[in-house]
Amino acid sequence: MRGIEKLKNKKLIFATHNIGKIKEFEQLFSGIGIDFLNLSSFKIEDEPIENGLTFSQNAEIKIDYYFNRIKESGFEFKPETYLMSEDSGIEIKYLNGDPGVKSARYGGDITTKERNELILSKLKGVSKIERKARYYCCIKVLNFFDEVKMEFTGKLDGYISKESNDGDGFGYDPIFIPLGYNMTISKLGNELKNNIGHRSAATKKMISKIFNYER
Ligand code: IMP
Repeated sequence: MRGIEKLKNKKLIFATHNIGKIKEFEQLFSGIGIDFLNLSSFKIEDEPIENGLTFSQNAEIKIDYYFNRIKESGFEFKPETYLMSEDSGIEIKYLNGDPGVKSARYGGDITTKERNELILSKLKGVSKIERKARYYCCIKVLNFFDEVKMEFTGKLDGYISKESNDGDGFGYDPIFIPLGYNMTISKLGNELKNNIGHRSAATKKMISKIFNYER
């Protein structure tokens, strides 16, 4: 690890309400020495309509929306403050790339477990090759001072399991098996996900570029 001293005054605001993502980001940034804030620090509870056609467009919608909301709150901008948004999801070959950008709301107002059961039922009898799936993550980062925006992406290839008894893990983790493994991400655990995951890949690129820090 290097560069911790230089990072002492840096602040990063996570523009998300998603607890699963916040938990993962906290682990991915742990030990670096950056100060974290999230939307609750600004009492922001609302969210924009994510009607982009791509992960990148949705991440852009979120960063612009929360940037304006935070500006309205009278937050004092310093050069070392960054805002980060993220849009992610899963694309399944057999479903022609669905749920994709609609991953959070696929199947309507149902629980995560019901959503995973819905996917498993749609893929009933479908061969492993057609069960191919990919997690995708797009991170946007904006520096409050010069308003320069940057984008970082990551992906994780795998396939959808035939069944799942892995409970209520984050999103599609109870039914997603990474390539080269034979159990779901929920079973494999967070340590492995932080090494091979889509969010981790995008985050590592971002940390290296913006904070000049290698994990
Ligand atoms: P959004 O980016 O807030 O639109 O939501 C992305 C959705 O994709 C999440 O609510 C999950 O359903 C799914 N998703 C994204 N990344 C992951 C992951 O790492 N594990 C499980 N599900 C994920």
